[in-house]
Amino acid sequence: MKTHLEIDHSTFELRRYPIQKNEKLQAWDSSDEYLIEELEKKEFPPKTHFLIMNDSFGALCCWAIKKGHQVSAVNDSFLSQQSMMKNLEANQLSGVHFLSSLDPLPTQIDFAVLKLTNNNRLLVWQLCQLSQHLNKDIKVISASKAKDIHTSTLKLFEKYLGPTHTSFAKKKARLIFCEKTIQLERLPAPTTVFDVPEYRLQLQNYPNVFSAESLDIAAYLMLSHIPSNDNIKKIIDLGCGNGVLSIQAARLHPHATITSVDESHMAIASAKINMKNHTKETTQSNCILNNCLDGFDENTADLILCNPPFHQLQAVSEHIAWQMFCDAKRVLEPQGRIVVIGNRHLGYHAKLKRLFNNTKTLASNNKFVIIEATKDPIMDESVIQGLLSK
Ligand SMILES: C[S@@+](CC[C@H](N)C(=O)[O-])C[C@H]1O[C@@H](n2cnc3c(N)ncnc32)[C@H](O)[C@@H]1O
Repeated sequence: MKTHLEIDHSTFELRRYPIQKNEKLQAWDSSDEYLIEELEKKEFPPKTHFLIMNDSFGALCCWAIKKGHQVSAVNDSFLSQQSMMKNLEANQLSGVHFLSSLDPLPTQIDFAVLKLTNNNRLLVWQLCQLSQHLNKDIKVISASKAKDIHTSTLKLFEKYLGPTHTSFAKKKARLIFCEKTIQLERLPAPTTVFDVPEYRLQLQNYPNVFSAESLDIAAYLMLSHIPSNDNIKKIIDLGCGNGVLSIQAARLHPHATITSVDESHMAIASAKINMKNHTKETTQSNCILNNCLDGFDENTADLILCNPPFHQLQAVSEHIAWQMFCDAKRVLEPQGRIVVIGNRHLGYHAKLKRLFNNTKTLASNNKFVIIEATKDPIMDESVIQGLLSK
């Protein structure tokens, strides 16, 4: 797997974080390369203020900082932000002003770069932010895999920003060039709302939260299988999204502390609102932006609920689910339980069995299965360490 990105006379060392043994995926793609080649052709005055949105692992920020520009970088993903910081450091670069996807944009942007994600709601939100915020005539350049740029995508750029055209495709990537002529007076409401009447839920969702327009069917199934037991005092909702499982856990365990964890800024913001709107004032709730359970103490949770992600950014990947299960094993108290829902074909059953040495099927249908595993206090620690290092 290549870790050196060569551009003109510069070489950048770029890796995906968290680092994995046998990583097969590069930390940049052909659309990053195409975008940087295009930017190299332009003559930017020194210290041009670049706004860079959705840089995956820092390729674009490294390039702009190396060229001596000012950079404000907007991301929804905590893992992307961590990767960018590590990659900047690895290349002895610094000075990026990091912002979350919900922060107001900084003033005096000279040029905006927008990497497309595959989420149209996020795209519309970010185009609205640019339209409302950028001065007129500022150029916006966007990049993506060619297959992800549709006529409808270009129409969104035209609707919110102004005249738009595209480049030829190169190595399956394409650029979008846009000149900002439209000024949006006000940002639209950032959240969408949907109801789940059978559970008395009205959920608010920021644009990049998982399943923002309706309840995920796996989450729906999980709602009726959350264990309820008076001894459960500390619950973690790992990969909480809009917090739907946290709410139900809090209702079933009014005296427990609920910790909702996600790596998306918008998920955490949604979960905070939804927990506040659906639980009693006395509920002890924390919503934490984090990579899995990094930094959580050992033996501190009784119950972990998990509807794991199956991709990191655009790439399909199993490693986050595996990291979540390994972290759960460490953070659960002896006899603590993890309850996981997943598509049958994902094979979570085998993974949990390998790690916990026991599993129980709580429910299943033709698509999903809910599996519980219990931390066995006498399982040899060296076995766990051996598994974790694989
Ligand atoms: C399948 S969704 C489940 C969301 C919610 N619990 C539900 O059931 O609707 C998985 C969630 O995991 C989050 N996630 C992905 N990678 C993560 C990581 N490294 N650490 C914490 N959360 C992560 C995603 O942002 C997403 O919200």
